[in-house]
Amino acid sequence: MKVNGKHYRALWIENSTVCMINQNLLPFEFKIHYCSNINETCEAIKTMITRGAGSIGAAGGYAMLQTILENKNPEKLYSELILSKQKIDSTRPTAVNLFYATQRVLEAAKISKEFAIKEALAIADECVEQSKLIGKFGNEIIKDGFAIETHCNAGWLALVDYGSALAPIYAAFESGKKIFVYVDETRPRCQGSRLTAWELFQQGVPHSIIPDNAGAHYMSHKKIDIIITGADRIAANGDTANKIGTLEKAIAAKFYNIPFYIAAPSTTFDLSTKNGNEIIIEERDQNEVLYFSGKNNFNKFSEFLIANPGSKAINPAFDVTPANLITGFITEKGIISTNETSIKNLFKN
Ligand code: MRU
Repeated sequence: MKVNGKHYRALWIENSTVCMINQNLLPFEFKIHYCSNINETCEAIKTMITRGAGSIGAAGGYAMLQTILENKNPEKLYSELILSKQKIDSTRPTAVNLFYATQRVLEAAKISKEFAIKEALAIADECVEQSKLIGKFGNEIIKDGFAIETHCNAGWLALVDYGSALAPIYAAFESGKKIFVYVDETRPRCQGSRLTAWELFQQGVPHSIIPDNAGAHYMSHKKIDIIITGADRIAANGDTANKIGTLEKAIAAKFYNIPFYIAAPSTTFDLSTKNGNEIIIEERDQNEVLYFSGKNNFNKFSEFLIANPGSKAINPAFDVTPANLITGFITEKGIISTNETSIKNLFKN
């Protein structure tokens, strides 16, 4: 998507340097962060300089590529890649796109180094193509005049380009539909108020940020026509892990009879995870809950304690929404229902 008239992806690779929009500085500063080796790329994933399931998948692929490009002894390449995969996979435990990417490059390396390079580069490109199609299919269920609620950031920052939940919104807006987006703030890291709001603002899409606990209020007042969020991992039975707070929205949507869709590429579906109970939920540092970060009156980044000094916090990064609360999955192959058979069919040609 464009930033100040110039097209950017959330991340890309130049020679062996992974370049990424520093999402921790947005919306206050637009800066590119450079990772010159696999350790720096892993650190950037861990600290969420790049984030969102699709983008961390692409970063994982690029980190494997950095190992290939740094390799000095071809006989040791495969064992080096196994170690790199372990290192990359340990950065964040929930989004399956990361493991999909590292596994794909490792498998390709069994055939040839050249094929592994091709596969590592293809992950980001395919994510972009899938996102475009998610936009096209998702646009079909957005009617003119719709108000859409979304949670976290499932836009182009999270999926290299276009997005998952935001792709249908961009497509609807570009096709001339009058839409309005309710953007959940998404505490504690505020991916909604910082990143989704920034994205929508850049593209001119009408929106307002709402506090995380305001969704049910607007649903009860019939202000919301549809809810679309992204996903970090979808189990074989349709249970879906996404940013903490998604489950509450889905429960409220069911109560008020509002369609609740998950938009995700097939790379986010994980048939080896039978159901939501098997998904590992990342626990992040308590300081993300206890402190707020932003710019102060002197235009300097600052952190503020916003809780009782001495109290501890617990910080689960994701929750799991059971399949029976989800109306359908918007994928690059069309909109599918949430049962096991439809999910399996996604992987048939
Ligand atoms: O912790 P984050 O910011 O990486 O979590 C991202 C989300 O939960 C998104 O909603 C999800 O990745 C879907 S968009 C690819």
